[in-house]
Amino acid sequence: MKILFATSEAVPFAKTGGLADVSSALSQALSAQGAEVWMIMPFYRGVREELNRRGMTPIRCGSTLRIRLGNKLVEGQLYVTVLPGTSVPVILVDQPTYFQRNGLYQEHGRDYADNSERFIFFSRSLLEATRLLGFHPNVIHVNDWQTGMVPALLAIEGRAQPQLKETRSVITIHNLSFQGSFWHWDMLLTGLDWKYFNWHQMEFFGQLNLLKTGIVFSDLITTVSPSYAKEIQTSAFGCGMQGVLQTRHDDLVGILNGIDTAIWNPATDATLPETYDIDSLAQGKARCKAELQKELGLPVECDAPLAGMISRLTDQKGIDLIIENLETLLATGLQLVFLGSGESRYETALVDAARQHAGQIAVKIGFDEALAHRIEAGADMYLMPSRYEPCGLNQMYSLQYGTVPIVHAVGGLADTVTAVSHETLANGTATGFVFTEYLSSAFIDLIQQSVQLFARRDIWTQIVQNGMRQDWSWHNSAKRYLEVYDKVLSRPVHATLPVHSDNSTGPVSAGEAGAGR
Ligand code: ADP
Ligand code: GLC
Repeated sequence: MKILFATSEAVPFAKTGGLADVSSALSQALSAQGAEVWMIMPFYRGVREELNRRGMTPIRCGSTLRIRLGNKLVEGQLYVTVLPGTSVPVILVDQPTYFQRNGLYQEHGRDYADNSERFIFFSRSLLEATRLLGFHPNVIHVNDWQTGMVPALLAIEGRAQPQLKETRSVITIHNLSFQGSFWHWDMLLTGLDWKYFNWHQMEFFGQLNLLKTGIVFSDLITTVSPSYAKEIQTSAFGCGMQGVLQTRHDDLVGILNGIDTAIWNPATDATLPETYDIDSLAQGKARCKAELQKELGLPVECDAPLAGMISRLTDQKGIDLIIENLETLLATGLQLVFLGSGESRYETALVDAARQHAGQIAVKIGFDEALAHRIEAGADMYLMPSRYEPCGLNQMYSLQYGTVPIVHAVGGLADTVTAVSHETLANGTATGFVFTEYLSSAFIDLIQQSVQLFARRDIWTQIVQNGMRQDWSWHNSAKRYLEVYDKVLSRPVHATLPVHSDNSTGPVSAGEAGAGR
C-alpha cells in the first residue's frame, strides 16, 4: 500500500507541538508494518538548517512547480530527502517567499497574513508532486487545516489525473480549535468554483474554512483519541463543527497516538545525566532529579515533591488553574518546574511567579527539546490540567519515564491515565491522578492527595511502576491506521464526493452565512 503523508511539521525538521512528533513516528511505524510511506512537507528555513547540521543534502527532483493561485502563477521546487535515521522518503516543497521564514505559522505571536495562500500553495503542490515524481499513492493522509484543502482538490479535480484516479483521502484532526479560517475572498486562491463555498462544504460562518473543507471532502476522518472522537461531536468540545462531524459520524474514528520509543525512552535517552529503567528506577531517577534541581537553581532535596510541565502556553493547557492557585499549591511543599512559550500573559505570570518564589518555582520560557527530556526524567509528577486535550503526548512520555501524571479527564488524557483509587491501587492498574470537573477545588484536592501519597514511598513506587510497564509504542495504533486505509480502499472511489452546490452565484456575507445555519 502506498501512502502519501502530508504534514506541516515533523521532527526533527520542524516542530511547534505534538503533530511533529506524530507525523514522524507514525510514518515510521506504518513503514515498519510494510506500507510504502512518503512524507511531504514545506521546505522551511528550519528544515534547511537541520539538514545542514546533519550534513544531509536533499536532491532536487522533478521539473519546476507552477501553481496558479488566483491571478498569480507561483513557482516552486521539489526536493527529496529522508527522515533522519529512517528510510522514509520526505518530499520538501520549496517556495522561499512562503517558507523561508523564522516561524512555521506565525512570528511574535501574530499569524502570517498570507497563511491561506501559503498552505493552498502547499496543498496544490502536493497533488502536482504525485505527477512530477511518479508516486501514485493509494491514500493521501492529510493532517489538520494546513492540508485540509487536499481532499477537496483530490475529489473535485485530482481524480481526473490518471495517477490519482483511484486515490482516497484520510484527514486526521489533531486539534479542532485550529481551523484555518480565512476571509471569503481567499476562495479565489483555491481555484475552485464558488459553488463549493456553501455551508455544507467550504464555508463556515461566512469564512473559508480549510479544516471543515478537509472534514467534508475526505473519504474518512480520524482523530487522535477515542474520547476526543466522541467529545468533538458535542457542543462543549465541537468548536462549532459538531454538526458537520455528526453528519460524518460513521466515518469518524478515534485512534490513540503512540510515542516514539526510540526518542522517548529513559533507558537509552542520551540527554539524561543517567539513564534508567524499571529496575534501576530509584537510583536513576534520583540522580536525574538532583541534576535538574541543580540546573534550574532549586534546592537539591530528594524528599521535596517536584512537579513539571512542558507546554505551549495557551488557554487549552489549563495554566490558569495553576496560576490562580499557586499559593495553595506551594503550601503543599511542591517544587514547580515550567518549560514553555506562548501567550505573553501566561509567560509573564509564570516569570513573575518564579521571581517571587525563587527556590520553589523555576521557569524557562522558550523551546528546548533536551530540557524537555530532562524534566520528564527529573520530575516526580507531571501537570496536565488541560481544558481539552485531543490526545496529549507528555502524559505518555511521563508514564514511560516514571513520572506520575496529574490530569484533567478529557480526550486522550482520559484514555491514557488510570486514576488512583482504592480499587486501582489494589488491582495494580493505578497510573496517575485524574480530576473530572475543571474546578480549582478539584485540582487542588488532587495535588494535595498526590503530595500525601508521594510521602508513602511504597505506594508511590507501585504507581510509578504500573505506568512504566505500559506499552505506548505506535505498534498497535499504526495497525489501526492500516485498517482505516483498507476500509477506504474497499469502497467505490466516488461514493463520498459531496454533491451540494446550493450557492453557485458567489460569496455570501458573513451575516447571511451565520444566520443561515
Ligand atoms: P500539543 O501538540 O497540543 O502542544 P502534545 O502533548 O501533543 O501537545 O505535544 C507537545 C509536544 O511539544 C511534546 O513533545 C512536548 O514535549 C513538546 N513541547 C511543547 N512545548 C515545548 C517547549 N517549550 N520545549 C520543548 N518541547 C516542547
Ligand atoms: C494537537 C493536540 C494534542 C495532540 C497532538 C498530536 O496539537 O493538542 O493533544 O497530542 O495534536 O496529535
